[in-house]
Amino acid sequence: EKGTYPHYMLKEIDEQPIVMRKIINEYQDEHNELKLDEDIRQAMKAADRIYIIAAGTSYHAGLVGKEFIEKLAGIPVEVHVASEFSYNMPLLSEKPLFVFLSQSGETADSRAVLVKIKEMGHPALTMTNVPGSTLSREADYTLHLHAGPEIAVASTKAYTAQIAVLAILAADTAKAKGLELPFDLMKELAIIANAMEVLTDQKEEIEQLARDYLSATRNAFFIGRSTDYNVSLEGALKLKEISYIQAEGFAGGELKHGTIALIEEGTPVIALSTQENVNYSIRGNVQEVVARGANAMIISMKGLEQDDDAFVLPKVHQLLTPLVSVLPLQILAYYAALHRDCDVDKPRNLAKSVTVE
Ligand code: F6R
Repeated sequence: EKGTYPHYMLKEIDEQPIVMRKIINEYQDEHNELKLDEDIRQAMKAADRIYIIAAGTSYHAGLVGKEFIEKLAGIPVEVHVASEFSYNMPLLSEKPLFVFLSQSGETADSRAVLVKIKEMGHPALTMTNVPGSTLSREADYTLHLHAGPEIAVASTKAYTAQIAVLAILAADTAKAKGLELPFDLMKELAIIANAMEVLTDQKEEIEQLARDYLSATRNAFFIGRSTDYNVSLEGALKLKEISYIQAEGFAGGELKHGTIALIEEGTPVIALSTQENVNYSIRGNVQEVVARGANAMIISMKGLEQDDDAFVLPKVHQLLTPLVSVLPLQILAYYAALHRDCDVDKPRNLAKSVTVE
């Protein structure tokens, strides 16, 4: 039940710190060691390449997960949109492992891929919020997201839960392979849970940003480099699906290869800058759009911030920033939709789970 909340989406945004702590508990044993099914560990170890299959927001979580698995566990990863994979299958490696990311576990596009790759005899792991779901039952292994029921059509807490569980999967695989980890993941996730709490307490500030930047616009751009680019795709999807503002996520360096033509006086450009190695270059991209009249909002991270940044995120580990940088984008989308009198929880033309191909 949504209790005192006006919308499920707002409630689910607020639940993210609780979900983070739940995930830490569920995936940790009494000695504070990562706890994962031995079968899943072996399947990950045996794979020479991981194929992540998903749709929409789950696909965006997969893009972040690819970085974890490649950087921590040293296994190459491809992330595919389910509806494309079925009809245009890439050449597969010798020992692929398929990972299906699906909040509902019922997405028909993903199921079509699962059926096909099972016919081919390949192993499959489903990461889902609904363990009894079709994708869970039909795969060899299941990892539970532990996000609790997600009712709002726009996915929020399932996105961060997917990213956290993907990080756990990557870290567990790294340990199983005897690789050194750059951090104590569970400690970092606890820091993130606290940071999420700080962010959910800053709703008024973010509502004001929604007024300042998004109230009178027909379109908006989200830009970022490296992992901020992955999050900018999700920020754009959140905004368009509930507020109907046309929004696109772009790699900071790619805008000038065509799309910058769309920048006019007052066009909102929301730039994420949470990564030290691209902080300088993304700010250069912001200057390019500001020179053409854009109304730029920079969301940066403590330690990388500059004076006129619109919003500064609490500092978390560089690899895990999507878990916090997405929150202000979710909250921005929520208020942009609310200010336009949109039906936040049930946007037009959309269903919570898409069971047709
Ligand atoms: C966006 C959204 C959708 C879903 C997509 C996949 O907010 O909710 O893009 O992410 O339909 O759904 P699942 O994860 O249930 O397979």
